[in-house]
Amino acid sequence: MQITLSNTEEKIIATIAKAAQQMQMPAFLIGGFVRDKILGRPTKDADIVCLGDGIKLAHAVAELFQPKPNVAYFKNFGTAQIKLPLPDGSFFEVEFVGARKESYTEQSRKPKVMAGTLAEDQLRRDFTINAMGISLNADDYGMLLDPFTGIHDLKAKIIQTPLDPLQTFSDDPLRMMRAIRFATQLNFSIAPKTFDAIQQDAHRIKIVSQERITDEFNKILLATKPGIGLEMLSKSGLLSIIFPQMMALHGVENIDGMGHKDNFYHTLQVIDNIAEVTDDLWLRWAALLHDIGKPATKRFEPGHGFTFHGHEVVGARMVPKIFAQFKLPLNEKMRQIKKLVELHLRPISLTKENITDSAIRRLLFDAGNDIDALMLLCNADITSKNKQKVQRYLQNFEMVKERMKEVEEKDHLRNWQPPLSGEDIMRIFGLPPGRKVGMIKDAIREAILDGVIPNTYQAAYAFMLQKAASLNLQPI
Ligand code: CTP
Repeated sequence: MQITLSNTEEKIIATIAKAAQQMQMPAFLIGGFVRDKILGRPTKDADIVCLGDGIKLAHAVAELFQPKPNVAYFKNFGTAQIKLPLPDGSFFEVEFVGARKESYTEQSRKPKVMAGTLAEDQLRRDFTINAMGISLNADDYGMLLDPFTGIHDLKAKIIQTPLDPLQTFSDDPLRMMRAIRFATQLNFSIAPKTFDAIQQDAHRIKIVSQERITDEFNKILLATKPGIGLEMLSKSGLLSIIFPQMMALHGVENIDGMGHKDNFYHTLQVIDNIAEVTDDLWLRWAALLHDIGKPATKRFEPGHGFTFHGHEVVGARMVPKIFAQFKLPLNEKMRQIKKLVELHLRPISLTKENITDSAIRRLLFDAGNDIDALMLLCNADITSKNKQKVQRYLQNFEMVKERMKEVEEKDHLRNWQPPLSGEDIMRIFGLPPGRKVGMIKDAIREAILDGVIPNTYQAAYAFMLQKAASLNLQPI
């Protein structure tokens, strides 16, 4: 089989082959590495399957490298892994496993594992394109071993299982999500029989751990066009189980000739738009969640039409729960997404005429360091099919950005720190922590944001004295 390898990959693989031949243990490249090399995609890891003890082979391979890599192994699974340094400072990971046949029980993912042949091992893999092997053995080195014509499916851009799909999915229901993930990443289609099986077995995703589901979901979100995968998740029935809040975005309603757009497809479009300008997973999550509060806030106002008042606030409040549900870290990134969801309508409201500096200042203050991300989200949120409208909205945002630049240059609000802190106020007036300190601090902030005083220490100090006097406070 002709595949193109880098010099480093060539050397690594030849060394693995040498160790296997010294041990007289047949070994094969298998799975994702073979698939990706045939497709010409970059890879940073390879799986080796051998007819024998994978852990022993890993140790023998490690011996042939200088410096000798550490062998991490899992006796229970019979797998071992070594990490080899690459010239760019990263690592190439090689995983070793003895060829196995496995069978799973209905209710559990814990397989019963027995040694098997290469063909048996290939049979239990997820998709034909992931079941191809390449021999590392002296007599047929480099030969493609492809019993399920994965090469044909690669060319035809089809994802299908080697066995009856219901059997393959019952071995590991996560594979239903993997099918959709690969179809999205590679821009392949899923064979009808395989897709039907996903629809039929979607409920079994419930036995898979949330961490594994989230991992696949994030990979879909990181694809060039995540919308393709999200729609497949929806059609397959998986999305209603793993993300019912997103399914609730589906649908259009029409009353008295007044309708609204389908928020599900709008959301997909926004994600695809943002995917064109950033690889940041969290911004893609922000796009995914920006309208998540719409179903809960939908109202019909007679004579006016459908409204979603407050959906940005309701949506922002839903973010921590959704993050917890996906077992995503409840950290700064989550808070950033919450903020972006809450603020996503604000730049639009600034595109009207006669916007005051103070409104611009408030947005800069509220968005802080996330202002650029917010503008990316707002641009992506323009999904009108009317090209002129799109042009007009984009121009409006450019104007808002211009205004923000002007105000920012004047007032430096982006990383705004109050010129007088709560501690300063307590010290100056001899106050304990409490309500009055907060009132003075808030008054200073409001005065700066409203443009009543400039953003300087001196002006803030004078203003503080005034405010304090109105509260019967004098400096000590
Ligand atoms: N595999 C499988 N069923 C799974 C997971 C993995 O059959 N649920 C097999 C496939 O043959 C797959 C190989 O194990 O090619 C390696 O799995 P993994 O590293 O998860 O995926 P890759 O195919 O390497 O792709 P990626 O690196 O993009 O995840």
